[in-house]
Amino acid sequence: MRVLTTVNLKGGSGKTTTAAYLAHAFADRGRRPIIVDADPQGSAVRWQELGGWPLPAVALPSTTLHRQLAGVVDRNRFDLVVIDTPPLEDRHGIVVSALRVATDVLVTMAPSMMELDRVGPVWKAIEDAAGYRNDDPSVSVLFNRVTARASSTQAHRDILTEQGRRVLATTIPRREVYAQAFGSPIGKDEPHARLAEELLTMWGER
Ligand SMILES: Nc1ncnc2c1ncn2[C@@H]1O[C@H](COP(=O)(O)OP(=O)(O)OP(=O)(O)O)[C@@H](O)[C@H]1O
Ligand SMILES: [Mg+2]
Repeated sequence: MRVLTTVNLKGGSGKTTTAAYLAHAFADRGRRPIIVDADPQGSAVRWQELGGWPLPAVALPSTTLHRQLAGVVDRNRFDLVVIDTPPLEDRHGIVVSALRVATDVLVTMAPSMMELDRVGPVWKAIEDAAGYRNDDPSVSVLFNRVTARASSTQAHRDILTEQGRRVLATTIPRREVYAQAFGSPIGKDEPHARLAEELLTMWGER
């Protein structure tokens, strides 16, 4: 079972939006995803209720999520867990717990100098979590809120790549539909479809 965790230091980087759209894109591809909402604010669970999503979302805002997950998610019903986390700076213990069970970590961020400058604690938390496990998760940066044709996107990709980080080829544009999406059903969406395909290819499942 894959466990994909979205993470960032700050609020507003697109963790919940990415978790929501990506889970739908995986369901469209025949996977059986469940969203685990580790944010005490519960926005993913609330969005699921309001939007009447066909896929489930359960709340598990706990610093012992890594121990509880197996009891909450039935492996016979689901083959992909997407964990939406709170901001690392607010809930370090919960986020590290979610990182301990992740097979895949998605660091969602805008390609901007400010976001790049404050990603250090995210790498540190991933390392801290790795100390509790034998295998390392795959870690990828997802650029979100990307402005079309901005040369800065490639510049920021280069900086991260030089630091030894993997940046996914797929980027998510800044769009009004995402800004207004909370509380609504989620339909087919091309950028997230490409994102799911890229991840499936990375996992050797394409
Ligand atoms: N690609 C995008 N284009 C436009 N708006 C976006 C995009 N991604 C996210 N947003 C908007 O930005 C806001 C923050 O996004 P989101 O809630 O996904 O962030 P978050 O990282 O989960 O924040 P928090 O840590 O506070 O839960 C939301 O209003 C969302 O609709
Ligand atoms: Mg959120």
